[in-house]
Amino acid sequence: MGSQSRILIKGGRVVNEDCSEICDVYIEDGIIKETGLNLQVPGGVKVIDATDKLVMPGGIDTHTHMELAFMGTKTVDDFYTGTKAAVAGGTTMILDFVIPPKGTSLLEAYEKWRSTADPKVCCDYSLHVAVTWWSDQVKRDMETLAQQKGVNSFKMFMAYKDVFMLHDDELYAVFSQCKEIGAIAQVHAENGDLIAEGAKKILSLGITGPEGHELCRPEEVEAEATQRAITIASSVNCPLYVVHVMSKSAAKVVSSARRAGRVVFGEPIAAGLGTDGSHYWNKDWAHAAGFVMGPPLRPDPSTPGYLMDLLANDDLSVTGTDNCTFSICQKALGKDDFTKIPNGVNGVEDRMSVIWEKGVHSGKMDENRFVAVTSSNAAKIFNLYPKKGRIAKGCDADIVVWDPSATRTISAKTHHQAVDHNIFEGMLCHGVPVVTISRGKVVYEDGVLQVVPGEGRFIPRRPFSDYVYRRVNQRDQVGKPSAVERQPYQGEVITVSSQNGTPRHAGRDLHQSTFTLAGDAVSSGSSLPHPSKRVLAPPGGKSSIVF
Ligand code: URP
Ligand code: ZN
Ligand code: ZN
Repeated sequence: MGSQSRILIKGGRVVNEDCSEICDVYIEDGIIKETGLNLQVPGGVKVIDATDKLVMPGGIDTHTHMELAFMGTKTVDDFYTGTKAAVAGGTTMILDFVIPPKGTSLLEAYEKWRSTADPKVCCDYSLHVAVTWWSDQVKRDMETLAQQKGVNSFKMFMAYKDVFMLHDDELYAVFSQCKEIGAIAQVHAENGDLIAEGAKKILSLGITGPEGHELCRPEEVEAEATQRAITIASSVNCPLYVVHVMSKSAAKVVSSARRAGRVVFGEPIAAGLGTDGSHYWNKDWAHAAGFVMGPPLRPDPSTPGYLMDLLANDDLSVTGTDNCTFSICQKALGKDDFTKIPNGVNGVEDRMSVIWEKGVHSGKMDENRFVAVTSSNAAKIFNLYPKKGRIAKGCDADIVVWDPSATRTISAKTHHQAVDHNIFEGMLCHGVPVVTISRGKVVYEDGVLQVVPGEGRFIPRRPFSDYVYRRVNQRDQVGKPSAVERQPYQGEVITVSSQNGTPRHAGRDLHQSTFTLAGDAVSSGSSLPHPSKRVLAPPGGKSSIVF
């Protein structure tokens, strides 16, 4: 066994989400073998002096898009440069999104993503899968993915009309299936119909630059969709995860739903916590376009601080980046029309530093909450805990040694990502990753990367995460509505005449209607009787529609 697979981290302050203590950490073969003081370890181990440093679980970035084909081009960071940059920033696991085009197989898309990522990843990774259309086949694919392929989270888009967007009846069907198979439903919450109308209106006013991107999708477009997703998920008791919460309004919706007892989690991202949407009004087109993403960064400069406050107080739960990078020449596809600017920003390398700076250095959260929001909460929600997200005996040795008193300035000139700009350019950050250990191997030390493509592993995730589903299942058991026991009504019932003269009884039970949001109604495109079609009997009866 080489010294590379045996590491002793000495004298550091080990920080977990629930406590911190000064102790040593001994690692062998990718696993934390022991923690404590005065550990007896074999000779020849690699010793890392962590005196005055913090020893924390490696970051888990819940939201990335490496080498995603999107809006006519492909993200410039692939699984190699993206994960290399991740470890340079102290992140040791990413969760990327498989996004199958409408009408295509989820399983085939998943296999394609695996064969693209597996040979390139420099740290562990896992996959969410997007559901962009609905059919019985999609329903079966979701079950196979959850039971056999290690996928327990599915993302649905309420925006990108005609491309990825689902309608409410489809969301209802997908959320119901998530609940059935023990997955968590994720939503991109923006009203796609309103964005499409808004974009036409802004363009007609002669506004073609990046500021138009924000103007056509104001905060309420995000807040409305967030509330709608929560309402639909709650109606089927399905846990919900709102990805990239970008506005104060949407964050308030998530927060009040949590306070009302909903099982919902909000994910702000590094971009939204570290910068704002005032950049869309920058005179330099390339600068402004570099910040275009959906939902947009908000021009209200108090937004990042507000999102950080909610994150510190557990109204928001976890952080990702939505890392989806396009260089300026790619952004330039939309130089004359903001709707054609590929959406996406960087973050995978800088998330840990940005959150430390704006969250911990600012005094909004302590080091333990930092670990919770950058690592352990993600591990719990997505059923990776405590293998990931904790420093303790038996856990994976995914660790970052953090120097809280060192500083660095973020710049595209020094970052490890392939993208040619950085939305955090010039930000001074206190707190610097000095050593990153991925599965027990030092992959980054004192500014030097030692990564091998393909050394990261795909981490399958089982359904029915306890952290998410324990409450959900209990509610199912105790919260079922029941009928009131009463004597049957024995009295007189009036007789009414329908328009065609056939006598029938009035006051029929509305709940026996054939109206449904799922099943046939979904596949036929609409669940509601069309207003121009003649309904022979009103809702409540066995209505049939005359075509
Ligand atoms: O602008 C973004 N967010 N690009 C990636 C796709 C998505 O919506 O997550
Ligand atoms: Zn999204
Ligand atoms: Zn995304």
